Amino acid sequence: MRVHTAVIPAAGLGTRFLPATKSVPKELLPVIDVPALQLIIDEAVGAGIDHLVIVNSRNKPSIEAYFADAPEVIDKLEASGRAEMAERMRAIGRDVQVSFVYQHAALGLGHAVGCARDAVGDEPFAVLLPDEIMGSSELLSAMCAVCVATGGSVVGLKRVPMQEVSAYGVIDPIGEIDADGVVAIRDLVEKPAVTDAPSDLIIIGRYVLTPDVFEAIAELKPGAGGELQLTDALRVQAARGPFHGVLRDVRRYDTGNPVGWLSAVVELALDHPRYGADFRVELERVLDRDPS
Ligand code: G1P
Repeated sequence: MRVHTAVIPAAGLGTRFLPATKSVPKELLPVIDVPALQLIIDEAVGAGIDHLVIVNSRNKPSIEAYFADAPEVIDKLEASGRAEMAERMRAIGRDVQVSFVYQHAALGLGHAVGCARDAVGDEPFAVLLPDEIMGSSELLSAMCAVCVATGGSVVGLKRVPMQEVSAYGVIDPIGEIDADGVVAIRDLVEKPAVTDAPSDLIIIGRYVLTPDVFEAIAELKPGAGGELQLTDALRVQAARGPFHGVLRDVRRYDTGNPVGWLSAVVELALDHPRYGADFRVELERVLDRDPS
């Protein structure tokens, strides 16, 4: 058994990025010169995924357009000697089969994942929330391996200062985190008050789930914020066990808000093989600018 399908919930309205997202889906906003969605796809492919299920809304047809053939542009690039860019264009979506399903109303993350049920089928699958960008596929690969080894669902974890936990799903661990960063989980709670939080370990936007989660999703009642919460479906799985979390020291950017987005772009740009050196000079000039 291996994990070969990934679900990417992408039907959100992107209200934190209005007015940019009035006509451009947040998932297609550029991180340097690629849409954010491409970084999510690269991470998934790097972890062995070859089937993507994008949960889209009918109001965002440009996400599908990103995967369409573009023969005119490619011909033009080739005719003008830009073979490398022509190849990058051809490679979009080539290593993966891409399916689209539609979420007709924003009822919550649990509902969004549930929309992918038929496209996923009866096998374990990954979920990647596109609001978070990872520096590599390492965490997701490790999570897939834990799911295969244990036969249970797995969530990605991060330790945060206690006063930040209320913005996230929080886990109740069983015992200590082992040397590989793996910990068994007893329970999970979505957006608890600080005083009610069972730990300072939050769920980040990476999941590897066994397909019985779809039955729990089908039974969901509105939870935190009145939404159908994925975390509440995971509680059902955790109560049955096995259920694990993986904590890894990987680079992670929370691009769900404009400041997080800017930080990601700046840090990734400084490391960029083509633009990094020039950008560093520019950034230093900006930082040295006389504040008056
Ligand atoms: C969602 C999940 C939450 C998780 C978070 C990670 O929350 O419901 O459990 O911790 O993603 O980013 P949202 O950010 O949609 O409120």
